[in-house]
Amino acid sequence: MPLPLRAARTALLVTGAALLTRRALRRRIDASPLWPLPALEEPISGQPRSRALTLRVARHERVAEGVVQLRLEGGHLAALPAWEPGAHLDLVLPSGRVRQYSLCGDPEDTSSYTVATRLIGPDEGGRGGSREVHEALREGAEVEVRGPRNRFPLLDDTASYVFVAGGIGITPILAMVRAADAAGADWRLLYCGRSRASMPFLEELEKLGGAEGRVSVVAEDVSGRPDVGAFLREGAQGGAGVYVCGPEGLMDAVAGALPEGCSLHLERFAPAASAGGGSAFEVELRRSGRTVSVGADTTVLAAVRAELPDVPYSCEQGFCGTCQHRVLEGEIDHRDELLTDGERGDSMLICVSRARGTRLVLDL
Ligand code: FES
Repeated sequence: MPLPLRAARTALLVTGAALLTRRALRRRIDASPLWPLPALEEPISGQPRSRALTLRVARHERVAEGVVQLRLEGGHLAALPAWEPGAHLDLVLPSGRVRQYSLCGDPEDTSSYTVATRLIGPDEGGRGGSREVHEALREGAEVEVRGPRNRFPLLDDTASYVFVAGGIGITPILAMVRAADAAGADWRLLYCGRSRASMPFLEELEKLGGAEGRVSVVAEDVSGRPDVGAFLREGAQGGAGVYVCGPEGLMDAVAGALPEGCSLHLERFAPAASAGGGSAFEVELRRSGRTVSVGADTTVLAAVRAELPDVPYSCEQGFCGTCQHRVLEGEIDHRDELLTDGERGDSMLICVSRARGTRLVLDL
């Protein structure tokens, strides 16, 4: 059964566009003196960039092996900006690193945001962000946040919902499951992890799944790798919306076994294929009246920042969308998997994408 009161502007495969529901709009108008937020000049994929807020860590708790959950409160703020399941926050960590974390609390709670993060060591490709969250963002600490933004919206144009989460990929899926269940929708969840002890929110999810057996848990230390194909054959009827967040291998497995007639929606918190490499070219910054050279082994973002140090950016890996800019002239070599075909026509993510020719003109 489709979620009530949802009006998706656009249905799409592989992450999404903004979804402004009547419920969210109502809440923004009624409840939030912060809304509308002052938008900066350029929208990101149709969503205004919101201003930064300083929040306080009201709670820092371990919710599974290697996973902490933070409750961030606005204190003096009457209400925090609203969000929808699938949305994420940018956290500006004490070191200046910016990291994205999916919101996994209750969207109706406008006094706080909740995020959870798994400690990722350097051996797994961690670059220090999760360690900072675990060690520096203790109760009482202040942290700057930006957002929320939603590139993984739960759409209502589907007969049923199938969720697949791997490890900490459960964070955006948790809010979706709660919303689908509260709406009386038909849903299923496959939740995979290394061990039950390492999988947060298991108890709540198994309770939500109830006797109908909506939740399948695969702990690899006991059951080995999940049989994604079997799960989809059984759980994803034609017309289902399949929402996946987790490691690349899991997302590939779901994409490869997707039953006919189902739509696929992926939350990809992984680097774009390749940001460097290629030929040198020039970028004219039309509004600033400057031109920068982009070397074969550097990025457009790095070259632009040398002239415009305040140009916004965040992940530097092509998945957050913060560095999206309009391209006025030149052919773009898109190296991200985030922008929609429509957006690719006249904009690019300058942290990873490059020029096909010798020159680009940016509206900067
Ligand atoms: Fe995140 Fe470019 S900085 S996509």
